Amino acid sequence: MTLPPPLPFGPGHPWLAPLAGFSDLAFRLLCREHGAACACTEMVSAKGLVYGSPGTEPLLATTPDDSPLVVQLFGSETSFLEEAMRMLLDRGFTWFDLNAGCPVKKVVKTGSGAALLLAPDTLVRLAEAMARLAGEGRGGGKTRLSWHAGPATVLDLAPRLESAGVGWLTLHPRTAAQGFSGRADRSGLARLKAATRLPVLASGDLFTAEDAAACLAETGVDGVMFARGALTDPSAFGRLADLVAGRPPRPRPDLAGLVRRHAALAREHLPGREALLKMRTIVPRYVKGHPGARTLRKELASCMTWEHLERLVNEHLSPAAQPDGD
Ligand SMILES: Cc1cc2nc3c(=O)[nH]c(=O)nc-3n(C[C@H](O)[C@H](O)[C@H](O)COP(=O)(O)O)c2cc1C
Repeated sequence: MTLPPPLPFGPGHPWLAPLAGFSDLAFRLLCREHGAACACTEMVSAKGLVYGSPGTEPLLATTPDDSPLVVQLFGSETSFLEEAMRMLLDRGFTWFDLNAGCPVKKVVKTGSGAALLLAPDTLVRLAEAMARLAGEGRGGGKTRLSWHAGPATVLDLAPRLESAGVGWLTLHPRTAAQGFSGRADRSGLARLKAATRLPVLASGDLFTAEDAAACLAETGVDGVMFARGALTDPSAFGRLADLVAGRPPRPRPDLAGLVRRHAALAREHLPGREALLKMRTIVPRYVKGHPGARTLRKELASCMTWEHLERLVNEHLSPAAQPDGD
């Protein structure tokens, strides 16, 4: 068996984070065009995959250009994780990630996601199973500091996950109870980095290339993942690579071009209506803060055809469009 090339870790090799509802094939390809060195799928339920639930299969759509790709799994039962891993390995997927940080109710009520921080032995067993099936170092763990405020569970867990064969750790340094409130605690990243020999990736409040560069300098982590930052500006990946290399950051792409390119990728990789609905959720994120954003958001809600979307792009986003002042 030929081994896949190693994953890119390093300050100038930013990853696209797993983003349920967003990090689909089209968006991953777009982010790669803008410099993402690696990308994660949306979280995939191990049980859903094993039971063939209809929502699961589209999450695994990929193409040869979509590489390296990390499939993120969530679950709390070793048997389902193992079966899901066998299925994915049979299909040629090579890199995996275990979700131990999602605080969303429908995930934690099954004992998965951030609930694993309350069940460290289960988390370690799942990580061991992932490494046993995929091979040591082929699976990462993405987590938060702890469930509640207090001592950071992740610091005690890190050496255990390392022994379990985990290949890297991604930390969003908030507690699960915090959700997205407050601020990401960068000191937690530095502490995790000191507590493990594994590569550590930072996630959390990295909205721009400059945020990521500051986080890297402050914490000493090995690399970053862009999440919400990529949803507003996919060029953050390339801009960070420029900053790290000491080059002036490349200019942001023009919004009309960005929306058209995303639409073309969505049309290529999603069924027509779904692609259009996806654009209706993504465009408002791209135009945040843009002079015509409010009007455009309102009009997008009733956008039912690609011609209509193109008209909106022309009217509101082309360089000649008149700002409407909101
Ligand atoms: C819409 C959305 C979907 C997300 N989906 C996932 C997911 O599927 N798996 C996961 O581990 N984290 C998920 N996250 C968390 C992000 O990967 C990231 O860790 C978090 O947003 C913090 O980074 P940011 O503040 O730079 O956005 C999601 C976040 C958002 C906003």
